[in-house]
Amino acid sequence: MSKNAINSKAIGVFDSGIGGLTVVRALLEKLPYENIVYFGDTARVPYGSKSAQVVREYTQDDTDFLLSKDVKMIVVACNTVSAVALDVVLKRANLPVTGVIIPGALAAMASTKNKRIGVIGTIGTVNSNAYKNELKRLNHSTNVFSKACPLFVPLVEEGWLDLKATELIASEYLFPLTIEKIDTLILGCTHYPLLKQTISKVTKGMVTLIDSGEATAATVGAMLDEHGIRNTSKETPNVQFFVSDAPEKFTSVGELFLGKKLGVVRRVQIGKH
Ligand code: DGL
Repeated sequence: MSKNAINSKAIGVFDSGIGGLTVVRALLEKLPYENIVYFGDTARVPYGSKSAQVVREYTQDDTDFLLSKDVKMIVVACNTVSAVALDVVLKRANLPVTGVIIPGALAAMASTKNKRIGVIGTIGTVNSNAYKNELKRLNHSTNVFSKACPLFVPLVEEGWLDLKATELIASEYLFPLTIEKIDTLILGCTHYPLLKQTISKVTKGMVTLIDSGEATAATVGAMLDEHGIRNTSKETPNVQFFVSDAPEKFTSVGELFLGKKLGVVRRVQIGKH
C-alpha cells in the first residue's frame, strides 16, 4: 500500500462509552488533520466497576471493531481498559497502540516538584495500581496516593459539573489526598477533565491537574511521526462515531465532552451481548 494511503487511514479510538470524547477533543486540538473512528461501548458501560476479566473480554470486541474499520493505530481512551487490558489490544492489533496511563504518568512526573502525586479514577483503575506502578517505575522514590471516585462519572453525565453537591462530594473524595500534600493530581478517568474547575476549587488551586487525555494526544502525535504515518492531507478530517446502544443520549450528552456537535452517530452490534 502506498504511504499516502496508510497516512490517510483513521486513528481508531475506543472507550467504554461517552467519556472517551474528551480524548477525541484533545486529539482534534493537537492533530487537526487526522481522520478518526470512535467506538463507545454504550451498551456495556460502565467498565470502571466491572472485574478486570470482564473488561478484558469487552476489550477484545472493541479492538476487533476498530480493526474491522482498517485503522492505522489504536488509542485506548478508557483509563480502566488502559489499566487492566492494554496487553489485550497490543496482542490483537498489529498496529501502533497507546493507552492513557503511561502518557498521564509521564506528564505528572514532569510536573511534580515534591514527588507527591495523587491519582483519581474508577474503582477498576485504582485497584489495578496501574498509575502507581508506572509512577514508581519512572521514579521509585515517588509517593503516590490514590482514590477511587465512582460518583464523579454519573455526576458528569448528569451535567452536574459545578453544583454545590458536586463540590461537596469532590471535597470528600479529595480530602485524604490533599492532607498528604500532593502537588500534582492525575485525572485518571475520561470524565474527570470536565470537573477541572470544581477540583481546582476544592484543592484551592494548590495542585496541578494532569489531564491524561491531553497527555495522550501529545504521545499520539509523537507515535505518528515515529511510524511515519501522520496524515499529510490538510483537508477537514472525517470523524466517525459508532456506539453499541441507541445513539440518542450519546449524541446529546456527547457535545459536553467533545465541546462541539457530533454529527451522525451510528449504532453497531459487537461481541455477543
Ligand atoms: N471511561 C471510563 C474510564 O476512563 C469511565 C467510565 C466507565 O466506568 O466505564 O475509566
